[in-house]
Amino acid sequence: MPTYTHSYSIPRVSWAAPSNIALVKYWGKKAFQLPANASLSITLSKAFTQTTVSYESKKVKGLEFEFFFEGKENLKFYEKLKIVLSNLSKELPFLLDYKLRIETINTFPHSTGIASSASSMAALALCLCSIEKEILGQEEDFFKRASYLARIGSGSAARSVYGEFVQWGELEGEGSDFYASKVKAFHQKFSQFRDTILIVSSEEKKLSSTMGHKLMDDFSASQERYLQANKNVLKMLQALKSGNLSVFGEIVEEEAFSLHANILSSSKGEVVLLSPNSLEIIERVRKFRKEKKIDLYFTMDAGPNIHLLYPKNQEVEINSFIETDLLKFCHSYIPDEMGTGPWKII
Ligand code: DP6
Repeated sequence: MPTYTHSYSIPRVSWAAPSNIALVKYWGKKAFQLPANASLSITLSKAFTQTTVSYESKKVKGLEFEFFFEGKENLKFYEKLKIVLSNLSKELPFLLDYKLRIETINTFPHSTGIASSASSMAALALCLCSIEKEILGQEEDFFKRASYLARIGSGSAARSVYGEFVQWGELEGEGSDFYASKVKAFHQKFSQFRDTILIVSSEEKKLSSTMGHKLMDDFSASQERYLQANKNVLKMLQALKSGNLSVFGEIVEEEAFSLHANILSSSKGEVVLLSPNSLEIIERVRKFRKEKKIDLYFTMDAGPNIHLLYPKNQEVEINSFIETDLLKFCHSYIPDEMGTGPWKII
């Protein structure tokens, strides 16, 4: 009797990728998935997506995949993914020769209104990059390639393939619009930096990123905004390097208000994303900061939730303030912090 040692199990890869929060915002595109300005973010640690991709070769060419979100097939996400995978197949032609099974879970509750496109597209890109390496044995810069592919799925995902502080977009002849890179130097005051995410509303996002970026196309002040963002990236790099927390705070808050002001103005007042509770929290943070002379700053995404940013050595006092003064205005919260980036599971 012959003994069969061959394994019939289907090959698979799995990656976990964290979400990120932009300190200087990407808002506006100059071409397909290319940013109109440079941006800079902190990669988080607890809010992440884990994606597993199984791949089986097939005879008939064409895109074929199944998609499971938190254990269940999800048609809405499937349709979105179909567009992403079809765009990616121009870069990764092997996608047409394999049947894929994509399974994904988020660590953060999906009813929190937190955008998961950055973590999910980064995790997917990392999986596809690992498969590409398996099949073609490519030995180029793995994370640069993953960032390039993640950007095609979602711009902000380009930044989630690295840990700590990450920048994306060409600026003064450095960096690239096609992929992100790690910020090389930052002061130890910023290590283990905290981000407590206050979920002010658990409603679905009112404004999709696609629509939001489009609003900038016909907006009269868009060129000024792009200049402001580029200037802020340069200023932020300096502040990170020198450990200047108050300049850091000035920039992140200016960026958050600029994003919301641009959304309000470019939509002619039709899109108002901050809620009364977001404004109440902002007021209270400012008052507390002034009274206590403490380094507590905030930023927002394109939604009502507030990210509270502060150094680790001030966390005891700040956490007690959050508990007693802010949580009553929130649906829930995620005590997150700066992380070291994605990790391979299989
Ligand atoms: C406000 O990356 O979600 O979070 O490229 O269309 O997927 P697409 O947009 P997306 O936009 C992010 C916008 C933002 C700011 C930021 O993360 O820089």
